[in-house]
Amino acid sequence: MQTIHVDLGEHAYDIEIAAGLLPQVGAKVAQLLPKARKAAIISDTNVAPLYADKLQKSLENAGLAVCQIIIEAGEQSKNMQVLSDVLEQLAASGMTRSDVVLTLGGGVVGDLGGFAAASFMRGVAFVQIPTSLLAQIDSSVGGKVAVDLKAGKNLAGAFYQPKAVFIDTELLATLSTRFLHDGLAEAIKYGCIKDAALFEKIAAYADDDALLADIGSIVAACCAIKARIVEQDEFDTGLRMLLNFGHTLGHAVEQHFGYSYFTHGEGVAIGMYQLTARTEAMGITPQGTAERIRTVLTKYNLPCDAGVEKSLLLDTMAKDKKKNGNSITLIVLKQLGEGALQKIDWQSVPEYLG
Ligand code: GLY
Repeated sequence: MQTIHVDLGEHAYDIEIAAGLLPQVGAKVAQLLPKARKAAIISDTNVAPLYADKLQKSLENAGLAVCQIIIEAGEQSKNMQVLSDVLEQLAASGMTRSDVVLTLGGGVVGDLGGFAAASFMRGVAFVQIPTSLLAQIDSSVGGKVAVDLKAGKNLAGAFYQPKAVFIDTELLATLSTRFLHDGLAEAIKYGCIKDAALFEKIAAYADDDALLADIGSIVAACCAIKARIVEQDEFDTGLRMLLNFGHTLGHAVEQHFGYSYFTHGEGVAIGMYQLTARTEAMGITPQGTAERIRTVLTKYNLPCDAGVEKSLLLDTMAKDKKKNGNSITLIVLKQLGEGALQKIDWQSVPEYLG
């Protein structure tokens, strides 16, 4: 078991990481929240059939009355209507302010379920149990919860920290190879911005089996990096933007294809490589860095090129311009393992995207 403490004053919490942790969650929740009598598990139609009953049993064994709220799997569920349905179900279950919401799933479940917990009765305790690699190393840590609006992704939300994050790396066994690699793109990102040794470690695994056999150490390294960043910038006004390395172009790629062709991690992979190829040409990043990134991305079947004209991606980004004003903060690599914020004018964006 590895424990990473996220030191956020009265909102501090622990991230616990271990293979086979799920059956212990009930006892841990009962100890953490002794006044809780009811627990609502929010999960989705992919994850619930695999793990929800196991979690329910663990909670019941710890003396909690449990209800399950299951949403349709997929990003299309992350909306106000589903949020409203979830809130109604929480109310119907007789939950009180001393009870607890547990989110069991990937990013959509964590984001929507976390926002439901933040808003139900003006806030009830919630616990994240992320089941995808992407959620285990990124979205479950740091308290960003949200739903999408018609106007864009994550436009209604809050910063609302969980009481604990329980990461059972055994749950990754049922993840498809594509989504294992999708999450790995974010792990490679952490290596690029903060930890060259982590980058080299990911680059060195013989294959996916070797990676999975050691995945606990990768998850712990990523969560520790994220915890240290979130502690310094909980509300995302500065340093936390480092986590956006590869995301500006990545989001444009995802959006250009209607979020249905490239996964989030695949978009980020393209963004990391393409931006670094440019900053290398501009003398910001040392020669050879983009090639090292390309090699590791390719090894895990992650794309480096979206196969679309950059001008079309710029058009997509321009639609978001009003959200950002006349400048944009890009994350560039000073070297592998050291990301930096670089504020540039919109006019300069094409130069950075090639
Ligand atoms: N996923 C980026 C952040 O939590 O800030």
